[in-house]
Amino acid sequence: MTDGLDGVRDHYRATGLTERLKTVLAAFGPEDRLLTPQQLGTLDQFHTRGLAATAELAQLADITAGMSVLDVGSGIGGPARFLAATCGCQVTGVDISEPFVEAARYLTARTGQNGQLSFHAASALELPFADGRFDIVLLQHVAMNIFDRARLYREIRRVLKSGGRFATFDVVLRGGEARYPLPWARTPATSFLLTADATREAIEPAGFRMLAWQDDTEAAKTWFAQLRASGPPPSPNLGVVMGPDFVELAANLGRNLMEGRLGILTAVFEAASTNS
Ligand SMILES: C[S@@+](CC[C@H](N)C(=O)[O-])C[C@H]1O[C@@H](n2cnc3c(N)ncnc32)[C@H](O)[C@@H]1O
Repeated sequence: MTDGLDGVRDHYRATGLTERLKTVLAAFGPEDRLLTPQQLGTLDQFHTRGLAATAELAQLADITAGMSVLDVGSGIGGPARFLAATCGCQVTGVDISEPFVEAARYLTARTGQNGQLSFHAASALELPFADGRFDIVLLQHVAMNIFDRARLYREIRRVLKSGGRFATFDVVLRGGEARYPLPWARTPATSFLLTADATREAIEPAGFRMLAWQDDTEAAKTWFAQLRASGPPPSPNLGVVMGPDFVELAANLGRNLMEGRLGILTAVFEAASTNS
């Protein structure tokens, strides 16, 4: 098996994304009118349960004003903008997709948050930061794209201060194989799902102690059922980012959850002291 990084980059290549965003955001008014992170919430939260999930993760991780937060696999920057606005923290985002990083910078200029946020194109497996730089690291719906989990969690531990917190919100295997295509992978070639227990077994040896552990599958199933019942998706939505079939990819994740194949895990860990 390969690490699939080229395939993952290809899945998120999003050619012409910033231009598409400019076009759809014209509906909110002229380019120089500031937008709020909440206005972008249907478009820029690339994970199950959108803004609500980001807000809950921030609360569980106890993110407070002035903290330095790293969002690994930051997508087009929605969670970072929302957290900076609601928690008063500084957020750095890294993502392997250059078009996503460019779009994240563009949208952050549109919300007037350049002073609190920065985005970098880099791999989660080689974070371009010094040891012990961050108070909090977030990972939302990214781990399933990463084959080398041991290395991922070691890198996250390396850039966290001792006593800092790592909050993860991800899709996990639950009972059987996933059915593709899915929002993060159209085929199994770029999908590296683990069970919740195997995820914990990969995280703890990297130097973490568990603080919180939640199975959020039922909440996700309810959310997908409500989406299906509420008719056409809101506009703008993630179809602008990922293409017109995104609605089907998302609905397929909902089906995998309903069938008991996949689940949703939320967990927070504390970075153990490197001296102990
Ligand atoms: C489903 S999206 C989630 C984006 C964001 N966390 C959010 O919730 O809005 C997955 C993101 O992970 C990024 N990603 C996948 N593998 C990565 C890697 N090895 N290093 C950095 N980013 C990666 C993708 O480019 C994509 O932006």
